[in-house]
Amino acid sequence: MERPRLLKCASMSFVMYCIFAMSFLAIEATTNITTDQSSLLALKAHITNDPHNLLGNWTTSTSVCNWAWITCDSINNRVIVLNLSSMSLTGTIPPHIGNLSFLVHLRLRDNNFHGSLPMELAQLRRLEIIHLGINSFEGKIPPWLNSLPKLQSLYLFSNDFTGSIPSSLWQCRELLQLSLDDNKFTGIISTNIENLSLLKELYLNDNRFEGQIPRRLFNCTSLQILNLSGNRLTGSVPLEIGNLRYLNVVRLHANHLTGLIPSTIFNISTLEVMGIGGNRLSGPIPSTIGLGVNLKKVFLWINELNGRIPDSITNASQLTVLDLNSNSLSGPVPSTLGEDMVAHVCDFGIAKLLGEEDSMTQTRTLATIGYMAPEYGSEGIVSARGDVYSFGILMIETFTRKKPIDNMFEERLSLQCWIKEALPHSVTQVADSNLLVEENLPAKKDCILSILQVALDCTVELPKSRLDITKVLGELENIKTKFQKRVART
Ligand SMILES: *[C@@H]1O[C@H](CO)[C@@H](O)[C@H](O)[C@H]1NC(C)=O
Ligand SMILES: *[C@@H]1O[C@H](CO)[C@@H](O)[C@H](O)[C@H]1NC(C)=O
Ligand SMILES: *[C@@H]1O[C@H](CO)[C@@H](O)[C@H](O)[C@H]1NC(C)=O
Ligand SMILES: *[C@@H]1O[C@H](CO)[C@@H](O)[C@H](O)[C@H]1NC(C)=O
Ligand SMILES: *[C@@H]1O[C@H](CO)[C@@H](O)[C@H](O)[C@H]1NC(C)=O
Ligand SMILES: *[C@@H]1O[C@H](CO)[C@@H](O)[C@H](O)[C@H]1NC(C)=O
Ligand SMILES: *[C@@H]1O[C@H](CO)[C@@H](O)[C@H](O)[C@H]1NC(C)=O
Ligand SMILES: *[C@@H]1O[C@H](CO)[C@@H](O)[C@H](O)[C@H]1NC(C)=O
Repeated sequence: MERPRLLKCASMSFVMYCIFAMSFLAIEATTNITTDQSSLLALKAHITNDPHNLLGNWTTSTSVCNWAWITCDSINNRVIVLNLSSMSLTGTIPPHIGNLSFLVHLRLRDNNFHGSLPMELAQLRRLEIIHLGINSFEGKIPPWLNSLPKLQSLYLFSNDFTGSIPSSLWQCRELLQLSLDDNKFTGIISTNIENLSLLKELYLNDNRFEGQIPRRLFNCTSLQILNLSGNRLTGSVPLEIGNLRYLNVVRLHANHLTGLIPSTIFNISTLEVMGIGGNRLSGPIPSTIGLGVNLKKVFLWINELNGRIPDSITNASQLTVLDLNSNSLSGPVPSTLGEDMVAHVCDFGIAKLLGEEDSMTQTRTLATIGYMAPEYGSEGIVSARGDVYSFGILMIETFTRKKPIDNMFEERLSLQCWIKEALPHSVTQVADSNLLVEENLPAKKDCILSILQVALDCTVELPKSRLDITKVLGELENIKTKFQKRVART
């Protein structure tokens, strides 16, 4: 290497950088399609289970560019895409992958890869997309991601990653999509996130992040989707959220957020879905909600909101779902509201809050929330009436094959609302279609209807209005007997 260049590498870190950079160049110069081949064969050797033999033609008898799941570029004749998504593969990523120096897309989504990410991946200077979601990778987010200058999409969701986000990640300024959801990440969301000014989608949901939502997050004004649900975030939602002028979906459910609903949020004309259920927000629903010209769904369930529903809400003409369940709101409900709404203002009278430390903090417990009686969260009351509630939800689940946290309910326990609306006339719309096969159809319909009605009586919000468990069992026994008699007659 020439002297002048070395002289420029004055500081120690710069020297390191230069050595690093030169080593990349060196690697690139020494790799070719044969290296690509041996890298991929090394990967194949690290795959311990390929149940459908999908890598069967990864052999030296055909050229790499003809192998399945590989794309080469026609100019350099080098591997640019490796896509092994959804192939039920088990294995680890060997360091040799770092020799695929022309790789642009690394897609291993939805397999059973495990282990940590080898640092040789840092050599892949052309990488734009890393998709490793839905695997069993573990360890920390590697600190070298900032050596991938073109990285645009990083999907690590649904793995077993741990630790906090390394500050080097905030230097990946080209990032458009960052998905770290459903792992075991801890620590705070750094204000350095502001450096990701191109970011469009940010998923940090379902981890163990804590601390406040940094104001500077809202410097990332390209954001369209923001999902921070299911963490341990505290403090209030900064008014700066209104700066996100392209925001389309925001989900902040199941944290420990306090303070007011930021009134500025409804001034975002692109906003369609806003969810902040399962927190401890107080105060009224801001009258700015009427500015939400494109608002379609608003979820405010389980907070401590009070006051009236503002009249201006009638100006949010696209609104079809407004879930206010378990707050302390008072009436009257604006008269124009409700006609076209799906989940309307189901049971909004009673204040409920989920304050239990462990009850809201992560997905896995979140999954049980649907089964948990509302009073359990607010007062930690475990009671026979609470069990009746859970039993009722289980019955609904059994006969509808819908879970209280089913996607259909948009992250909310509106299962009961949905059933309530369908009964008694549209039982076929809610019942599990597998249960509604031709034979004895009318008897089956009546039976399911009766069961669902009992289930609804088990899941009313006020504990003392719920059926007693002996009554429940008695009713179910009657339903069974009636059904058996009817079927026997035919
Ligand atoms: C390689 O295998 C895949 C499926 O496993 C198949 O679709 C593809 O045609 C095969 N390619 C060659 C060149 O045999
Ligand atoms: C990757 O492979 C999966 C499964 O074969 C396929 O569904 C998906 O479209 C591919 N993705 C890309 C970007 O080629
Ligand atoms: C490829 O990578 C492995 C492991 O990182 C290394 O041992 C090997 O020498 C590299 N180079 C070539 C040309 O295969
Ligand atoms: C963020 O950007 C600022 C200004 O460009 C810079 O000073 C700072 O070091 C960056 N932070 C990180 C973590 O990259
Ligand atoms: C973020 O916004 C603040 C105030 O709006 C501003 O002072 C700061 O320079 C911004 N940071 C970046 C990296 O744009
Ligand atoms: C965002 O978070 C919610 C939980 O509130 C979850 O149900 C939803 O699937 C998440 N969306 C994505 C795309 O990760
Ligand atoms: C809403 O945004 C418009 C234009 O961006 C601005 O003029 C107005 O003051 C904002 N209103 C509120 C209540 O923030
Ligand atoms: C709805 O919007 C119209 C026009 O912007 C305004 O005049 C009216 O006062 C608003 N209604 C309510 C209830 O805020």
